Amino acid sequence: MCNFCCKFAAKFIVCIKMASIKERISALQAQVEGMKANNSKELEELRLKLLSKKGEVGALMDEFKSLQKEEKAQWGAIVNQVRQSIETRFNELKEQINAQADTAAEHLDLTRTPDSIELGTRHPLSLVREEIIDIFSRIGFTVADGPEVEDDRHVFGMLNFAPEHPARDMQDTFFIEKQEGIQSPDDILLRTHTSSVQTRVMTSQQPPIRVLCPGRVYRNEAVSARAHCFFHQVEGLYIDKNVSFADLREVLLYFAKEMFGGDTQIRLRPSYFPFTEPSAEMDISCNICGGKGCAFCKNTGWVEILGCGMVDPNVLESCGIDSKVYTGYAFGMGVERIANLKYRVKDLRLFSENDVRFLRQFESC
Ligand code: PHE
Repeated sequence: MCNFCCKFAAKFIVCIKMASIKERISALQAQVEGMKANNSKELEELRLKLLSKKGEVGALMDEFKSLQKEEKAQWGAIVNQVRQSIETRFNELKEQINAQADTAAEHLDLTRTPDSIELGTRHPLSLVREEIIDIFSRIGFTVADGPEVEDDRHVFGMLNFAPEHPARDMQDTFFIEKQEGIQSPDDILLRTHTSSVQTRVMTSQQPPIRVLCPGRVYRNEAVSARAHCFFHQVEGLYIDKNVSFADLREVLLYFAKEMFGGDTQIRLRPSYFPFTEPSAEMDISCNICGGKGCAFCKNTGWVEILGCGMVDPNVLESCGIDSKVYTGYAFGMGVERIANLKYRVKDLRLFSENDVRFLRQFESC
């Protein structure tokens, strides 16, 4: 090839190179605007396609490096600008995606349960207990509390249950610590009634005493629709000067009318408890049939709801209260029993199974 031809060929090659670099630049410029990535995976694909060594910007740089000095000077600024605008756009996209990932991470709570949280409801026994407390608190009763795990002394001894007295069998007891063969005031047991709280109040306070003792009690009974090995009571105690049986009757009538409606009547039947003398059981006129007789009241028109009586002087003395100066009355009722009458729940076991479909029915009653 002659000198002329050589020069011409070289110029021709440069022209081809220039044409391809122009094309690349305008193709890349066109792409900058449309650069998009919705997530880090798409962003990485974009990086590989454009910015990696083998990507389009890499190819442009390779081509640029092969240019002559003068052409490099001519195109250098433009090539740089294209590369920078691609890098800037890429960094913008990267920041956007990172910010999205951050807010997503902020909202991510790994401690949340997959189910939505449902609000609970108050247990029917709590509702009834609160109602009983409310009725008595309106006439001056306050609430006293005591342990469920008790000693024999507070559950039986101070309440006039003589040692080995058969009355102890009235309340089948769960013992926790029991001396072999003999009965000891130090035996530890699950309280069988909340009268044990009354003994604790009487030994720590002087009259006038006017307390309610709500709480859970335990008796060793076979579980059935009508009996359970644990249930709830609210007991009441009033001690002052000149407290009479008539006062007791009046307070119980007030309670029955407040709880079951103004037409409710009461009747007291003689009964026996070691800690009260005289003792009685109280019936109310059946609130289901209005006293006419139905299956619930076994056609008698009456249903039993509580035990009561005048506190035995022996009990007052064993608790350090002078029985010549003070008298008092006590009463005790089962919360489940009252709830049965109020809500007509036939099976006692439902109260302790905690099926929310059952429990949810009462709050608005
Ligand atoms: N403590 C008795 C019981 O559990 C109830 C009661 C309390 C009876 C007070 C009379 C007086 O059955």
